Amino acid sequence: MLTVEVTAPTNIALVKYWGKHPKYQWLFIPTKSSVSFTLSSFFARTRLTVDAGNGGIDFTLNGQKANKGSSEFEYVESFFERIFSNYQFARKYSYCIESQNNFPTAAGFASSAAGFSALAFAFALAMSKVNIMDSLDDKTVSIVARLGSGSAARSIPSNGGMVIWHRGYDKASKATLVSKASYAETLYPPSHFAELAIICVKVSSEEKKIRSRAGMEESVRSVYDYWQWVEYEESTLLPLLLNAAKRKKWQALFKLTKQASNNFHSVCLRTTPPMIYLSDRSREIIEAIQFLPYAAYTFDAGPNAVVITLKDKTEEVEGLLKNIAGKHSTVVSGIGNGPREVRP
Ligand code: DP6
Repeated sequence: MLTVEVTAPTNIALVKYWGKHPKYQWLFIPTKSSVSFTLSSFFARTRLTVDAGNGGIDFTLNGQKANKGSSEFEYVESFFERIFSNYQFARKYSYCIESQNNFPTAAGFASSAAGFSALAFAFALAMSKVNIMDSLDDKTVSIVARLGSGSAARSIPSNGGMVIWHRGYDKASKATLVSKASYAETLYPPSHFAELAIICVKVSSEEKKIRSRAGMEESVRSVYDYWQWVEYEESTLLPLLLNAAKRKKWQALFKLTKQASNNFHSVCLRTTPPMIYLSDRSREIIEAIQFLPYAAYTFDAGPNAVVITLKDKTEEVEGLLKNIAGKHSTVVSGIGNGPREVRP
């Protein structure tokens, strides 16, 4: 029997992942590359106990045992099924998982990213300790995490900071090679962004109505210009944003981030049935920030906002956000590093 305990951060995508390539659906290959910041204030802590067995899973989330058949359990169970088909040896063990988030599950702060990256990291760490998996490098572990939840791949690189998850399928066509090419890596470490601050704004703690996994499948299927959006972001918006980040052109980075968030929510709205993740409060935040040259908003599949701004504008921007969403609605986060092992 072996127990490991880890923490892993969540991340916020500036260029979003929204759709799996239909040809490689079961491998969680995204239709387009995505880019995120690793957030230091929001993380999952996971304790994994591995014992001899035959693939059994016991899963406790935030102190509550997840029952077989619940959506939480199914997400974890199907993750292990994908792991088992990629790493046969892993079926010879049983897994007891205890995971905790320090923020609301499924409310628009990417809890699945933190949860699955912590689980993938703990799994790889445990397998390396029993000498079964020799490679604990970021690339391999990000591929494991991707099989749990796509966005989790971006929480894996140990240097954190700004991370890209490559779509990979434009580099190869054979499934195993595509899978190897679709990994996450740090582009710039946290120190590159010393001038920036991130403000997370809790607009609602309700769970989202349509989970990302189901929602993105509907978008790929039903949005008439879905692939046009994908190619525009891959070939134009993403390179522009990376160039702005490289040269620390923050105003351009903010503008492109807002554009990418708007594009993503426009895709959601044009999905059949439509997915409206933003609330009236979210729209008020958009209106307050949209013309500020020194701030950007971005929204995932939920009403909560993540606002990126200059450190010396934090007070001003946080004040604006509190006026809209309430006195206790904001948390300022740094841009941080990836997962790490902690002592049980
Ligand atoms: C809107 O990673 O939760 O947050 O791969 O099906 O688990 P699955 O989806 P998930 O989707 C995240 C979507 C997003 C955008 C992003 O984080 O890039």
